[in-house]
Amino acid sequence: MDSFGRTVDYLRISITDRCNERCLYCMPAGYHGWEQQADHLTAEEIVRVARVAAGLGFRKFRITGGEPLVRRDAVEIVRAIAALPGVACVGLSTNGTRLATQAQPLRDAGLRTVNVSLDALDAEIYRRVTGGDVTAVLAGIRAAVAAGFERVKLNCVLMRGVNEGELWPLAQFAAEHGLPLRLIELMPVTSGEVLNEKNFLPVGEVMQRFAQRDELIPQPDTRIGWGPAKYYLLKHTGALVGFIGAMTNLHFCESCNKMRLTADGKVRPCLGDHGELDVRTALRSSASDEAVRDVLLAALKGKPLEHHFRDQYQPGRPMTAIGG
Ligand code: 5AD
Ligand code: SF4
Repeated sequence: MDSFGRTVDYLRISITDRCNERCLYCMPAGYHGWEQQADHLTAEEIVRVARVAAGLGFRKFRITGGEPLVRRDAVEIVRAIAALPGVACVGLSTNGTRLATQAQPLRDAGLRTVNVSLDALDAEIYRRVTGGDVTAVLAGIRAAVAAGFERVKLNCVLMRGVNEGELWPLAQFAAEHGLPLRLIELMPVTSGEVLNEKNFLPVGEVMQRFAQRDELIPQPDTRIGWGPAKYYLLKHTGALVGFIGAMTNLHFCESCNKMRLTADGKVRPCLGDHGELDVRTALRSSASDEAVRDVLLAALKGKPLEHHFRDQYQPGRPMTAIGG
């Protein structure tokens, strides 16, 4: 438990800051701040942190990045974490571009759930947001469904004037394929220009728009996975849509249950707070797990009450370096 009585049992582990896409909201245009390969934790070091975390009571682990599947040992990392005592669930967040070939090996390694970013169905708009090819992602989603994961969810970051026209087609796509769709408010984790009054689209407004076309039935008892989304069923369309109001929901942080481990070995108690604790030094200088445990406990103790995204927050490192 943290200092505010929240049970923190969910660790999101970024295994790389690299990515084969260039999402507007995740890294500044022309980003060159890539970390040195030697600063990245090795698979063994990552699994060691996960083992110590599981010993402390962490139950749910998510592999993220950057794009986690650009790292060659991603499947092995999943396999090792899934096998640790105390681990209830390992999930993966991915841009989906490499899922077509990786979905089955990941499933076989013990991965249970997959979240795929899908900000648009239209190829042009998708390219504008991510720089990538939506066809590969759609093939990845099909492969993930075929591989039999317990859950495949779609994530879409809301951007006014960019993908707002895609939201309804995305909801229809989600319904057709029986996949929950989560709509996420844009957070200031890139650079100043990305999040401004002009392109911020609050979840409340999207709900109003959906309500003009369909009936939204609240699903207060639906908690799909460990995340913060509030779910609604679109009665006629049949889509299950989760709204993540990270910016406008003032109670957003009350039920926060997570911490992050960055690819370069920092424990970050909150996405919207610059505080990070170095666990890499502990991993590389000490053979005992005690030092690793101490860093995790200190991070837990230092976890802030809420994020500072509403207080003229200036992003430090971009999302791709922190981990999605
Ligand atoms: N604001 C909101 N969501 C973001 N993500 C990445 N950057 C941002 C941002 N600035 C989302 C991605 C991915 C998830 C892990 O985080 O869309 O689905
Ligand atoms: Fe890559 Fe994900 Fe960042 Fe997009 S959000 S650039 S897919 S890491």
